[in-house]
Amino acid sequence: MLTFLKKGLVCLAPIDGYTDCAFREIVKRYGNPDLLFTEFVNCQGLIRATDKLIDILRYTEFQRPIIAQLFGKEPEYFYKASLLLCHLGFDGIDINMGCPAKNISSKGGGAALIKEPELAQEIIFSVKKAVKEYKSGKSSIYNLQFVKTMIENWGLKIEDSRKISVSVKTRTGYDEDNTEEWIKAISEAKPDFISLHARTFKQRFTGVADWGAVKRAVKATDIPIIGNGDVQGAEDAQIKVKQSGCFGVMIGRCALGRPWVFQRGMVRGKREKVELIRKIALEHAELYAKYKGEEKFYEMRKHLMSYFRGFRGAKKLREKVCTVSSLKELRSIIDTL
Ligand SMILES: Cc1cc2nc3c(=O)[nH]c(=O)nc-3n(C[C@H](O)[C@H](O)[C@H](O)COP(=O)(O)O)c2cc1C
Repeated sequence: MLTFLKKGLVCLAPIDGYTDCAFREIVKRYGNPDLLFTEFVNCQGLIRATDKLIDILRYTEFQRPIIAQLFGKEPEYFYKASLLLCHLGFDGIDINMGCPAKNISSKGGGAALIKEPELAQEIIFSVKKAVKEYKSGKSSIYNLQFVKTMIENWGLKIEDSRKISVSVKTRTGYDEDNTEEWIKAISEAKPDFISLHARTFKQRFTGVADWGAVKRAVKATDIPIIGNGDVQGAEDAQIKVKQSGCFGVMIGRCALGRPWVFQRGMVRGKREKVELIRKIALEHAELYAKYKGEEKFYEMRKHLMSYFRGFRGAKKLREKVCTVSSLKELRSIIDTL
């Protein structure tokens, strides 16, 4: 049994462009969710240009347990990329079968796999095969030396004896809700758990997540279901687990600019909230500069826009930080708070 898979767990959802190494470090420090996911990475790209994409996978020991997410459509590339992820020390491999983005689903990956249940199963089997081979100690990858260098640079300690999960993150259907049939199809390949964003591909992010579908998914399988969609924090997570009977919950957008949402009662008064935001935003920015380099600091703006909302003076701050391009500049803005 996977030690991190405990009933009622709350995890950070993968969010492309947001849940990078710096953000996850902050989330772990202030929200301490039970499980973290990387942003997704293309399995074929990862194999063909490992050096170009490896930064997406950067993590720290503190972030464990941590699962890397792959997208794509070819079982062979999933197999190769999964072997790489095992050697990189991840605690699990998650397969994206839910992304509605056109550049991914139109090529047969992400949510398009909902229309291809047999291929979806084959992909799960190929990832499981990679994990099994890694565990047997007989697997090798052509760029092992490069991977070892990254492990050293990132300061990781890899336990070969660790359990590695294989999971799927998906939606309730493609054009229409097809929850039971689809969840049953994935379950035949026996992933360790399934995360279900309770919207169809067609809905993308519109409307409200249908937690009734999570309840139906739970009834359709004996594989643990992690419910996802519009969860508003720790208390809401608890309510949703109770109402749907799901194994645990995944929180995404609500954690942006509010990394403590995984814990109850972290913030009490309004003043305390502003103080906390100020402290966390700066720490986050420092980590961003450390991991991404000052030249990419402008990308931190989107996070700052998420931090600075919901309190008096926030609008003025947003106007200032939306053009910020260095840590020094940010410090001087935050000092005026
Ligand atoms: C900008 C953005 C990027 C996302 N990137 C990913 C991703 O890389 N992998 C994935 O499985 N889901 C991704 N998602 C979906 C989220 O993980 C999650 O399923 C969705 O936002 C619903 O949960 P929430 O309401 O808690 O945000 C993304 C969502 C957004 C808004």
